[in-house]
Amino acid sequence: MRNFFLSALLVMSSITISSQDYVPTEENLQSRKEFDECRFGIFIHWGIYSMLAQGEWFMNEHNINRWEYAKMADGFYPHHFNANDWVRAIKDSGAGYITFTSRHHDGFSMWDTEQSNYNIVDATPYGKDIIKQLADACHEQGIRLHFYYSHLDWRRDDYPMGRTGHGVGKSDKKGNFDHYFKFMNNQLTELLTKYGKIGAIWFDGMWDHDGDSVPFDWRLREQYDLIHKLQPACLVGNNHHDKINPGEDIQIFERDLPGQNTTGWIKEGAGVSDQLPLETCNTMNGMWGFKITDPNYKSAEEMIGYLIKTAGLGANLLLNIGPQPNGELPAMALERLNDIGKYMKRYSSTIKGTKAGDVAPQDWGATTRKDNHLYVHITNKDTLSLELPLTGKVKKAIEFDTQKKVPFKKTPAGVLLTLNEHKDKMDYIIDLETK
Ligand code: GLC
Repeated sequence: MRNFFLSALLVMSSITISSQDYVPTEENLQSRKEFDECRFGIFIHWGIYSMLAQGEWFMNEHNINRWEYAKMADGFYPHHFNANDWVRAIKDSGAGYITFTSRHHDGFSMWDTEQSNYNIVDATPYGKDIIKQLADACHEQGIRLHFYYSHLDWRRDDYPMGRTGHGVGKSDKKGNFDHYFKFMNNQLTELLTKYGKIGAIWFDGMWDHDGDSVPFDWRLREQYDLIHKLQPACLVGNNHHDKINPGEDIQIFERDLPGQNTTGWIKEGAGVSDQLPLETCNTMNGMWGFKITDPNYKSAEEMIGYLIKTAGLGANLLLNIGPQPNGELPAMALERLNDIGKYMKRYSSTIKGTKAGDVAPQDWGATTRKDNHLYVHITNKDTLSLELPLTGKVKKAIEFDTQKKVPFKKTPAGVLLTLNEHKDKMDYIIDLETK
């Protein structure tokens, strides 16, 4: 009887604990602030799938048997990988953080994990810990490091199969979530104890169970609490396209600007948080992992335009690169980093550390705000006069580049700016000093 009451009490108290509101620590709030000020980060999708050179979904899309797929590891030798070179090129682009795929859906771990031999050190002739090298370079060069971590796994027996991974040769669909959950948490513990300060864990893949008839319990809160216990300043983000869960510190949008849902992936009621930092991720070409048949990189102008619109909504842009199997970043990606770097060197003060501008992004461009400065970013080269629906008083309007005055007048709808020709500029910035 006593035992019954005791266990009933324990169940009740664990219910109250798990449903408690999440209260982020001071360190966490500070980390959110620093993250939010970056406005620009680089995503890296790298794993043994880069050898197939068809992106990171190829195993599932082509029903590659998991054991056959795994044999690729024995041929993975990225001899040109140089973490310092990667980090330098990324830092020079003006990015404030790197989000690296520690383990993608194929289940291959890019660090020396003790939880499985299917990792860069034990399963490849290369034998060196990629994450260690990257973490050392990031810490040395002073840039935040975030880890992407897949909730779903196409290889392991204990992962309960969802809507993907049906053709890779698994017979048991049920798996053993308790076992898998422990595995994930042990891996996360390694990632958060062996590689110094980690800026965020970026989860992906729980949408794999969206179609379940009985809602799948991922035990997120328990996992998030573990992360925050190990590193209170480590932010938690989850690419679930749904409303924020307690314990999440960032809201993520995939290939989509916050609030737009152009992909149609966002679930009803997901909303846009006015509390958490926002991040939108996108590709440079069309794929996350290296895809040899896709050289269609967006132009630097298009990428910068997207960065401006993202900043105009008060969000960060996480722009992706899929490195080659030899360990190099594709030449096109390096070229784009370089171009973005040139822009950021000159204009980062109008992007980094800003808030969403007073006027939401439009076809002509976007606005960002820092204190009493409203930066009007005009990306449409034909816009020669612009009426902004501003209610506050404008004290001064100047061209950011030349510091010359720009004529403006008050209108019933707001403020009308008369602009110079700016055909030669990707981003023509007017600095409005407001009251
Ligand atoms: C999707 C894809 C995945 C990619 C991610 C990046 O969830 O499944 O391959 O890593 O988007 O946003």
